[in-house]
Amino acid sequence: MAKNKTAYICQECGSQSPKWVGQCPDCGAWNSLVEGQVPPAPRSGRGGGMAGLADGRVQRLSEVAAEDAPRVATELAEMDRVLGGGLVPGAVILIGGDPGIGKSTLLLQVLAGVEGRLKTLYITGEESLTQVHLRARRLGLPRLDLPVLAETSVEQVLAVLAREKPGLVVLDSIQTLYTDSLDSAPGSVSQLRETTAQVVRYAKQSGCTIILVGHVTKEGAIAGPRVLEHMVDTVLYFEQDVGSRYRIIRAIKNRFGAVNELGVFAMTDVGLKEVSNPSALFLSRHEQPVAGSVITVTRQGSRPLLVEVQALVDASAAGNPRRVTLGLEGNRLHMLLAVLHRHAGIALGDQDVFANVVGGMKISETAADLPLLVAALSSFRGQAVPNDLVIFGEVGLAGEIRPVPNGEERLLEAAKHGFKRAIVPEANRPRKASGIELEVLPAMRLEQALSLW
Ligand code: TYD
Ligand code: MG
Repeated sequence: MAKNKTAYICQECGSQSPKWVGQCPDCGAWNSLVEGQVPPAPRSGRGGGMAGLADGRVQRLSEVAAEDAPRVATELAEMDRVLGGGLVPGAVILIGGDPGIGKSTLLLQVLAGVEGRLKTLYITGEESLTQVHLRARRLGLPRLDLPVLAETSVEQVLAVLAREKPGLVVLDSIQTLYTDSLDSAPGSVSQLRETTAQVVRYAKQSGCTIILVGHVTKEGAIAGPRVLEHMVDTVLYFEQDVGSRYRIIRAIKNRFGAVNELGVFAMTDVGLKEVSNPSALFLSRHEQPVAGSVITVTRQGSRPLLVEVQALVDASAAGNPRRVTLGLEGNRLHMLLAVLHRHAGIALGDQDVFANVVGGMKISETAADLPLLVAALSSFRGQAVPNDLVIFGEVGLAGEIRPVPNGEERLLEAAKHGFKRAIVPEANRPRKASGIELEVLPAMRLEQALSLW
């Protein structure tokens, strides 16, 4: 076997450099280089993710066999939604999240759900088999006879997989897995890259679906170089609002489905339960309408979701007023306040503005522009927005209200939850025949929209 070289490896992007430098020449991160071992250069024929499929023959796209591999549904519809319709054979899924959020619990439930239709294997490097057994018992899983294995050597794991030939494998976690061909510690960047590469190669060759659990760093990203996210097919994040029993699972990358798709679960004393009507979670249901609160309909992946946008506007004590956002984009708030000043003549320049989305939800789409401005104005004037009203729409720099995608679907969701009126962009006014039972108040300009409530 070739002798291993050492080099300085960037802990952020995984690039290598023969000498130590203060800044990574590839990704520009500071102080991220750590001495480590480089795996021996790959011999020819040991290519990237699709190795084994490339025999050097050029084909026409039409000749390529492309039968849609049947997806395997898990028994958790929220999980299937995030995956884009179930498990795809040969796919590698990376799932990250804070410790204790419920990754192991969720995956055990997924395995129990498909066992019988697919041969499964749960490989743990974090917990003893006793702990896994106790958890499964606590969950009251219908199948306590799930195949499990405690193993951390990737060579051993691959040998077992080659023998057992399962269709779905959970590896809990990728940080505990190590390869004998490198001396560096498990969880180091070179170990992570090498073990993930071996696992991905196995999945592509065998058609086995592999779910990898990844730890997250303090900043909330999956620990290890970003290249891990490039190597796998799907990246999911498991998130939670602090102190809440609700858990949101979100697709950040998905080669087999839509990104930003979201599934909602509640942690109970018998494991995770699906929440199939999550809209209600993100509203705080005030008895009386209160100033500074507006309900909007946002879209997360392929589903509309009602959320409450709150703003607090208060006279600023400092010369430099504060603008703070949670769950919304800060720069966008600055821009929207400038539009409010220029096109509606409302100056908040001497006011602090705080904006928040209830329930820890994050909104990255522009449909929240108009509700945010209405919430700010409502708080500024101390005038509540009626609680049967929803608002959505993008606000342009010229003070125009621009349409947002899937307007009708958003209106239907609002109507389903008992809202009676909606302020929407003129271009999102529904067709006559749409059958939406909601009074729609269309607006073309910001001044006009603000006069509608
Ligand atoms: P776990 O799946 O071990 O989290 P992770 O693998 O992401 O670290 O979940 C552990 C937490 O979930 C723990 O704090 C206890 C809680 N829990 C329940 O509330 N109910 C349950 O049925 C189970 C199994 C765990
Ligand atoms: Mg765990």
